[in-house]
Amino acid sequence: MPTLDWIGKKAVVNHHRQVPYRLLKCDAALSAGDADAGNLLVRGDNLLALKALLPYYAGKVKCIYIDPPYNTGNEGWVYNDNVNSPEIRRWLGKVIGKDAEDLSRHDKWLCMMYPRLALLRDFLTEDGAIFVSIDDNEVQNLRGVMDEVFGARNFVATIIWQKNYAPKASAKHFSEDHDYIVVYAKFADTWGPHLMPRTEKQDTMYKNRDDDPRGPWRPNNLAARNYYSKGTYRIQCPGGRVIEGPPRGSYWRVSEETFKELDKDNRIWWGKDRNSVPAPKIFLSEVKQGVVPMTIWPYTEAGHTQDAKKEVVSLVDFGDSDEVFITPKPTRLLERVLTVGADKDSLILDSFAGSGTTGHAVLKANAADGGRRRFILVEMDETICREVTAQRLTRVIKGYGDTPGLGGGFRYCTLGEPLFNADGGIAECVSFADLARHVFFTETGVPIPKQPRKVSALLGVHAGKGVYLLYNGVLGDKSVKGGNVLTGSVLATLPPHDGPKVIYGAGCRLGAERLRREGVTFKQVPYEIKVT
Ligand SMILES: C[S@@+](CC[C@H](N)C(=O)[O-])C[C@H]1O[C@@H](n2cnc3c(N)ncnc32)[C@H](O)[C@@H]1O
Repeated sequence: MPTLDWIGKKAVVNHHRQVPYRLLKCDAALSAGDADAGNLLVRGDNLLALKALLPYYAGKVKCIYIDPPYNTGNEGWVYNDNVNSPEIRRWLGKVIGKDAEDLSRHDKWLCMMYPRLALLRDFLTEDGAIFVSIDDNEVQNLRGVMDEVFGARNFVATIIWQKNYAPKASAKHFSEDHDYIVVYAKFADTWGPHLMPRTEKQDTMYKNRDDDPRGPWRPNNLAARNYYSKGTYRIQCPGGRVIEGPPRGSYWRVSEETFKELDKDNRIWWGKDRNSVPAPKIFLSEVKQGVVPMTIWPYTEAGHTQDAKKEVVSLVDFGDSDEVFITPKPTRLLERVLTVGADKDSLILDSFAGSGTTGHAVLKANAADGGRRRFILVEMDETICREVTAQRLTRVIKGYGDTPGLGGGFRYCTLGEPLFNADGGIAECVSFADLARHVFFTETGVPIPKQPRKVSALLGVHAGKGVYLLYNGVLGDKSVKGGNVLTGSVLATLPPHDGPKVIYGAGCRLGAERLRREGVTFKQVPYEIKVT
């Protein structure tokens, strides 16, 4: 299979593994509404934020939507749509080294995206999918990099969203009126989109021309261009006409036997004259409750960019500043993504949050149908995060002007210290709960199960294996009597688990034979804890 190469690729393909785990700190003053609603807005570079979030949410997100910088090369914008922000420039310099100077803007974009997509994949549930907004500047690079990270076989579709309602007279060539939304599933074989609700317009196609007691129906075409092995028979119409077979190059879509059965059940429409090409009836009462989503999303259904800007301006106070956030997506677009890609109780992740449209759409969907969807948003730019994203969410939750609040709430978080210091020691600020979450996740690859209030050395069981952490404060006292060292008496007091055990502790006084007999693998804290 062809693969994509670019300058700096070698430095970034495994980079996500080296990113240190950090603590998350919640800021109550910038949070709003119900703090326990399960929603988070994290301010920080999403590479660090995603790594910090993994121990909590790996394998738990049903729907990821991201709207990364499009990399249009337009440097003049206040809110950059490229990868030239100071944070990303610094990061590229650090990760790529001196080659960073030779990177083209496409190389930089790919270097930025690869490790972030690699982390995002780890958040998806087995039945989850990722939706990525993009335009022609990077769509082909995006497809290449997504093929590598998610697997080409997991490509689902490229949706075309009609973002403008009128042509741009200033266009150099064509007026570009659409964006793409590229969709990959974790496993495309088993993933399926939810159906879209039927619209009135779609239902008006169903009529009842012959007063069929089964209600309105629409005629289907009996001829199809695909090959149907049983379908080239002669048809005798009730009005006398003989049809020798389907039009050249096509086939009848049902066998002669099925056709006769359908006709007997009055499921064939022969036209008013009873001499037309027969059409099988499709009854409204028998079609699926919704409509299979199409890959073209017109602005009449999914909103357009002017809608989106108006929405943000009505929700965020930009004061006298001209610096209005100029790249939002309309809430209707995100509502559609949620309809197709999320359940009523799904966790939804957007790691390029911008003005917070994804969070807004989640709150709106919950208010409309009583769902319990939750969102995690990440935004790197501090001004945007505090003054646009948080402000918008707060107003939507509490209400603004004459618009009542939708309810819900979110916690505003920032990134704290890495869990481990430069020497590999546990940072002083790390609590037992922090270390426990980290140890369980790095040992098992899944988040720690919900803990009862009482602290226990048995953190949880995964795939039959019990994971234990011996602690004292967080290992403040490393002496044998301090409870952090695995001795015969400590082992006897540990909560029981029938099966293999992995025990993390500051030391071990049991011999290899005893450990084998007891089914214990001992791992020394901190050296045998994975730190990145
Ligand atoms: C195109 S905007 C997203 C707009 C959003 N969909 C909306 O409806 O408002 C991209 C956003 O990603 C943010 N961003 C860029 N690089 C980032 C990174 N490494 N981590 C987190 N956010 C980032 C930018 O600051 C910008 O706000």
